[in-house]
Amino acid sequence: MTGSGPVAIVVTSSTPLWYTTRATGLVAMVLLTGAMVAGLLSSVRFEHRNWPRFVTLGLHRNLSLLALAFTVLHVLTTVLDNFVSIPLQDAFIPFIGTYRPFWLGLGAIAFDLMLALIVTSLVRARMGLRSWRLVHWTAYACWPVAIVHGLGTGTDTPVRWVLALTAACVLVVVVLTLWRLALSWPQRPGLVTAGFVLVVLAVVAGGAWLRAGPLAPNWSTRSGTHSSQSTSTGASK
Ligand code: HEM
Repeated sequence: MTGSGPVAIVVTSSTPLWYTTRATGLVAMVLLTGAMVAGLLSSVRFEHRNWPRFVTLGLHRNLSLLALAFTVLHVLTTVLDNFVSIPLQDAFIPFIGTYRPFWLGLGAIAFDLMLALIVTSLVRARMGLRSWRLVHWTAYACWPVAIVHGLGTGTDTPVRWVLALTAACVLVVVVLTLWRLALSWPQRPGLVTAGFVLVVLAVVAGGAWLRAGPLAPNWSTRSGTHSSQSTSTGASK
């Protein structure tokens, strides 16, 4: 934790829950990234003598389910922690809360998309490939929205290893997305160029926002944390 003045951390029975929220958030981010990586590898039809495609597909499915399990835990510990009041509906309906409403709202959007992706994949045989694929495209929105949520609301964002972990997640997904786009070049050159530009712009804009926002002083207040909430949660950037 960083901050200019002394910070009072009230140690209560709810503190472990808040720490669990932070830890499960980071684990969910890594698992969701793993699911994205496996999904992208299977879409570029990656395979190797020692790495058949069914391994990638199995990984994709299992990492997605694990990511969901950790996100559910992340949401439950957030809701059960009673120092900052975050009711259950805030986990599903974006931008209605009082604690960092915008950044928490992005978490709700990512969670909703994640639920849609997983439920539709479980009933894929019944809903048809076309509709399933349409929903599955939203994975490209779910993952970055979850990343921005974590950076925007995370107490640990300025911590060096957390930043490095997030940067590694972004790097691997960006590289694989560019690879995926490059393979579609012969069929859709216009769309691929637009995709390339969009990805590069998103990374540049994300970096600029990170410097001016979560890594700059007073982000805790600017992101929508009341002073009473800062002291009781240790959320003090
Ligand atoms: C796909 C869904 C989600 C992912 C991958 C995710 C991931 C993360 C990550 C990486 C952090 C930063 C942890 C830190 O820096 O310590 C975080 C923070 C947080 N998330 Fe989520 N999250 C998701 C959805 C949600 C939802 C739906 C809620 C609503 C209840 C929520 C509530 C919070 C809160 C309150 C924090 C701040 C904890 C702190 O002060 O550090 N998240 N999340």
